[in-house]
Amino acid sequence: MTALPSVEVTVYPFECDAFGHLNEAAFLQLFERARWDVLARGPGMDLFKRNNAWPAVRRATVDYRAGVFPGDVLRIDSAVTQRGTTSVTLRHVATRVSDRLVVAEAEIVFVLIDRVGRPTPMTEEMARFFGPRTAGATARESLRVTAGGAELSVEVRGEGVPVLFVHGFPLDRTMWRHQLAALTRWKRIALDLRGAGASSVPADGYSVARYADDVVAVLDAVGVKQAVVCGLSMGGYVVFELLRRHAERVRAVVLADTRSEPDSEEGRRARDELIATAEREGPDAVAERMLPRMLAPVTFVEQPELVGEVRAMMRRWTVPGLVGALRALRNRPDSTDTLRQIRVPTLVLVGEEDHITPPAVAKPMAAAISGARLVTIPAAGHLAPLEQPLAVGGALSEFLDSLS
Ligand code: MLT
Repeated sequence: MTALPSVEVTVYPFECDAFGHLNEAAFLQLFERARWDVLARGPGMDLFKRNNAWPAVRRATVDYRAGVFPGDVLRIDSAVTQRGTTSVTLRHVATRVSDRLVVAEAEIVFVLIDRVGRPTPMTEEMARFFGPRTAGATARESLRVTAGGAELSVEVRGEGVPVLFVHGFPLDRTMWRHQLAALTRWKRIALDLRGAGASSVPADGYSVARYADDVVAVLDAVGVKQAVVCGLSMGGYVVFELLRRHAERVRAVVLADTRSEPDSEEGRRARDELIATAEREGPDAVAERMLPRMLAPVTFVEQPELVGEVRAMMRRWTVPGLVGALRALRNRPDSTDTLRQIRVPTLVLVGEEDHITPPAVAKPMAAAISGARLVTIPAAGHLAPLEQPLAVGGALSEFLDSLS
């Protein structure tokens, strides 16, 4: 990947629509303006003309993340994520300078064409500007990692300080999709734990210790010695185990919607009942039991498509995966002493309306960790990263920035 110089642009009133915010067409123009600015500062705006090769846009996708208004100053970071013989893919990330919020991301594929519209190879001068050829490589890499008899599915995106995401139960790595897309200044790594998502489903051998060893196998496979580790709920239990077994691999910790205490007697009985439900009625029944407690009431009303997404994620589990994970959860150790031993920067995140691991659990947990910060996310239940991605993204980028 070749990073191009960053450009700052101010949003003018005439670029905004009747509601006062920057619309899609204006956004594309703004990215184009940034590209010409980069050329003007580098090889010159006549780079294409003098090389007889014009970049024709073949595909443009823009993810809009937040409203942008007149007077906002945006920093546009651009990078060449793929360079073939006749094509170039550029990635633009627009960050509002005042609050460092990523407001939009774009991926634009160009094919170089000659005067009569035929694809034409890149000249040497252009190749110097766009960087080394990377045809076949993608900005988003999917890997299979073998660990302790399982094949783990892993997604790696971007460059920078590594941040590894561990999902909750019964979910998979797609629960981090907003953070994987938005935290573009860091290397994002997300795995499907054994038994979940696109990972394989061993018949047995599930425990939080095994999950933690799997995380280390993933870090080894992607060549990362130390990562910021971010776990939600069950993912948090895995982070505690990681801190006990492999503390040297942890640069900093994010504990999202999780708890340090083990299951109570009543909690264990509920796990046994859910195991019986899984075996008798299958994943759909488990999903229907769990779904009502996972999200804030306001999410059910205002984000029905997200409710459907979470239900579908739960239904993708298999019976052996569910049973294995429920046994691992049921038998997990008490991590309360581990809190006092954490020596790395820690952020505790909790949805204000999380009923599974409520703020009343998060507060004392944060208080027991030396120097930990606590951030409560309004209008979010147990799945704050999906329910309120902007607020969670803001809290995460502020924390990650504080590490450097
Ligand atoms: C999770 O989200 O991972 C689960 O709620 C954890 C649990 O049931 O203890």
